[in-house]
Amino acid sequence: MIHHLRAAGVGVSVDPRGTGVPAVLHWGPDLGATDAAALSALAAASVPAVPPSSIDVPLRLSLVPTLGEGWSGRPGVELFRDAGGADGASAARALRAPRFELVPESVTVSAPAGPADAVGAADAAGGTLSFELVDPDASVAVATRLELTPEGVLRLRHRIENRGRSPLGVGRAAVVLPVPARASELLDFSGLWAHERRPIRRALEHGVHAREGRHGRGGHDDAYLLAAGTPGFGFRTGEVWAAHVAWSGDTELWAERSALGPATLGGGELLAPGEVALAAGESLETPWTVAVYSAEGLDGLSDRLHPWIRSWSTIAGRRRPVVLNTWEAVYFDQSLAKLEPLIDAAARVGVERFVLDDGWFLGRRDDRRALGDWTVDPAIWPGGLGPLIERVRGAGMEFGLWVEPEMVSADSELARAHPDWVLGRSGDPEWRFQRVLDLTAPGAAEHLFERLDALLAGNDLTYLKWDHNRDLLGGSAHAQTHAVYALIDRLRAAHPGVEIESWASGGARIDLGVLERTDRVWASDTNDPLERQSSHRYTSLVVPPEYLGSHLGAARAHTTGRTAELSFRLATALFGSAGIEWNLATASEAELAAVAAWTTQYRRLRPLLHGGRVVRADAADPAQLVPGVVASDRRQAVFSVAMLASATTALPPAVRMPGLDPDADYTVRVLDLGRARTVQDANPAWFDAGEVRLTGRMLAEVGLPMPLLAPENALVFELVAD
Ligand code: GLA
Repeated sequence: MIHHLRAAGVGVSVDPRGTGVPAVLHWGPDLGATDAAALSALAAASVPAVPPSSIDVPLRLSLVPTLGEGWSGRPGVELFRDAGGADGASAARALRAPRFELVPESVTVSAPAGPADAVGAADAAGGTLSFELVDPDASVAVATRLELTPEGVLRLRHRIENRGRSPLGVGRAAVVLPVPARASELLDFSGLWAHERRPIRRALEHGVHAREGRHGRGGHDDAYLLAAGTPGFGFRTGEVWAAHVAWSGDTELWAERSALGPATLGGGELLAPGEVALAAGESLETPWTVAVYSAEGLDGLSDRLHPWIRSWSTIAGRRRPVVLNTWEAVYFDQSLAKLEPLIDAAARVGVERFVLDDGWFLGRRDDRRALGDWTVDPAIWPGGLGPLIERVRGAGMEFGLWVEPEMVSADSELARAHPDWVLGRSGDPEWRFQRVLDLTAPGAAEHLFERLDALLAGNDLTYLKWDHNRDLLGGSAHAQTHAVYALIDRLRAAHPGVEIESWASGGARIDLGVLERTDRVWASDTNDPLERQSSHRYTSLVVPPEYLGSHLGAARAHTTGRTAELSFRLATALFGSAGIEWNLATASEAELAAVAAWTTQYRRLRPLLHGGRVVRADAADPAQLVPGVVASDRRQAVFSVAMLASATTALPPAVRMPGLDPDADYTVRVLDLGRARTVQDANPAWFDAGEVRLTGRMLAEVGLPMPLLAPENALVFELVAD
């Protein structure tokens, strides 16, 4: 019987017949409710020809493709044993070209029940399929689990079990999925510190396009999401198949096309040689590889991922407070006297959470020392953090604190007491003058838990900004990532009221593994709105906006030195989990009033901004971005029009607003976030009139002419249906 899972317009059909490894017959648009006979007919009809100079049977791409099946592309698993080991040379040889067999009784399918002779439910709410494979000669079993969520998100993982007597090395245990030939264009991401998630497009040519992350965290150049789509796919158009690895250590993502078989997308944890050796009876469970199909461009990926993430999110139903972070306001120059004016200004403009950044702990006067010594420095905070927290609480705000638990400075009490806890070897390069703490060293994780637990128990804290400011460059990224997950999980269990933000010198650790256990992520260290428009746009392809910290910075951005209008900074920071990173004590009365008006709007629009559907119009002018959020009932929406550079034509095309209810009448009004600079003699008439009322269809198909914005300016509109 062919297993046919369907949900929200996506269909996955898997053929588990015979003794071979089950194969994906189809992953893409829903093929509809169908019966077993039709699916069998599809499976039979899909068997390809046998080309000259090939294996003598039709080649099929299985869910765990190996050389032993005749698949000469990248294999799904790579395993090895010592030829002299207890299992003997033949087991070692078998592993070079594994031939897995399905254990027929292991196949379990759970999909909502359909009519007696049908598979795949009429209500199409997804389901799960799992099966076990064995290669008896190699003494290995692989259990694979495939889930299609009600939102149409497909995720897969394997469990590799050593059934032999000698240690089993795991070199790769990844997920491989077919993509159709029409998916001939690729999109993935790269980046630098303060410039994360820069899109890169290329053709899917013959060969392997592989992205490997060896940072022990995603890294600033993280591939993040690898998408293959129909030529020219955009935010609103084209079919797209995409993969992401839900893991915060080393990862690989690849796309492969060859002359011999279907094109594939692959992804999983990247394992270093010898990093995982399973003892007899041990198994390795891989992280999930998350795969998403969209018939409607990149927005269609978010349309599946965001509701799915919201279904298990740790922050579901929690309001995202307006944050003030002290870093770009005072850096290491901390004291109660210095911070008091900032606390007062923050409270005045409507900040809800005040975060004390780096510099509060023993001996930490600059970034060269003291990481690891997580006790409050009495030289800076003579009465502990209590008086500061009281002051912040008294002003009506919550209090949060910066930590970087996985790190240690050579110049620290911790490194002096436990040199054996420092990851790597002495003489390894430092990075920001710091080393990594080996969380797998006996006692190290326990020590950290005790320090953080004491900090949380002893202070009225609701949030930790959990930073990670360097690559590992040594040790086992696999073991370290498991250890940090365990530490975070343990702390969360002990302090369920405390939110944790995954921060890594900006956006170097953002993935769906860390999102399962943290409550906010920082997309990039830059608060320059021009940079942020882009990093937010692409980071939010996977991560819903309520997770994405977006801060209002000073007029002159600290990272780029570029100066931006306040209205552009406000319009940009509105679309995420908003905050401020600017010394408000130096702001003018007019600026404070504008910031206060912005936080008021943010709080009012928060349910929409953090629960709606993210849309991104494909604007005709590449200098123009049109991000928006439409409420799930489509009665309300917020759109922004941002000009990143000079317009390419004197009269840019009317701005079309997608995702609205075509038959509803919307009133469009500009949201007052301060004056945007224009380059024109007169506004469009509708704009001067203050509002316009049009149907959703008109707004999507015809659009609205906009004031001609100067470069690096933005407007925000609210749309309300009546
Ligand atoms: C990193 C973070 C910053 C700040 C500093 C503190 O660079 O990205 O936001 O917290 O560390 O040292």
